[in-house]
Amino acid sequence: MKPTALITGASGGIGYELAKLFAKSGYNLIVVARTEEKLLQLKTELEGHPVTIIPQDLSEPGAAEIVYDKVKELGLTVSVLVNNAGFGLNGYFDELPLLDQQKMLQVNVNALTELTHLFLPEIKAARFRSIPKGVLNVASTAAFQPGPKMSVYYASKAYVLSLSEALVEELKDTSVTISTLCPGATDTNFFKTAKAEHTKLVNSTMSSESVAKAGFLGFVKGKRVIIPGTANQSMAYLSKWLPRSVSAKFAHYIDS
Ligand SMILES: NC(=O)c1ccc[n+]([C@@H]2O[C@H](COP(=O)([O-])OP(=O)(O)OC[C@H]3O[C@@H](n4cnc5c(N)ncnc54)[C@H](OP(=O)(O)O)[C@@H]3O)[C@@H](O)[C@H]2O)c1
Repeated sequence: MKPTALITGASGGIGYELAKLFAKSGYNLIVVARTEEKLLQLKTELEGHPVTIIPQDLSEPGAAEIVYDKVKELGLTVSVLVNNAGFGLNGYFDELPLLDQQKMLQVNVNALTELTHLFLPEIKAARFRSIPKGVLNVASTAAFQPGPKMSVYYASKAYVLSLSEALVEELKDTSVTISTLCPGATDTNFFKTAKAEHTKLVNSTMSSESVAKAGFLGFVKGKRVIIPGTANQSMAYLSKWLPRSVSAKFAHYIDS
């Protein structure tokens, strides 16, 4: 039996590239996103590689359980979970619709938490020698500081990093890897979705291929936090030492 990786948000951007890397390394795939045709495009590109498609809107309450039940109905077992689906929204907290921000929390925080809770028992039980098992959560360099004009997004990514680092400690005596990928600005649909194409964030981006490669290799090596790119690493390091009020001012400037 081959190991199976379930990847959310695999219809585009970083998730699409991560899916290809896991497939190349011998994992069967289960891919989740709303846009079925883009998931089918991925399956076509992978030419006969086992890919199970689950079209699902993760902003719907109960979505994680629907995905889990579907996986069980199909008789599949997951040994790697990649919680990559996520989005941001640019604008002042009180001016952005509350419902949109709640949907963002549902995808970035709740679905990620629920999927991890549902699949962790079988990930722990998976028996594969020399092929990694665990959870790769996609956070952001936004996890390291408060983010005015994207406040809920930054807070959601701080949650992802904090949860993941706590799980590393809880699972330290097991062979389960918990990694957090913290990309900086990456050239994907993220900025269009976030209505952030006018911001300084877009001035210096990495490619989704290079971010996914760093994430995949970091996970395989069992790294707890993966920050692709030296500029992003420097920013993350700096944010450890700067007063949070100063980091917030800098993020406000960048997010405008
Ligand atoms: N790009 C950046 O600058 C950047 C930086 C740091 C972190 N990140 C993080 O990287 C992850 C991937 O984003 P990306 O940059 O690759 O952006 P992207 O190209 O917009 O991809 C986002 C993925 O998430 C899926 N998704 C969004 N909302 C969903 C929903 N309600 N239900 C199910 N799937 C949903 C999308 O699929 P459908 O639209 O088909 O549903 C798509 O596959 C996100 O968690 C993001 O926060 C991105």
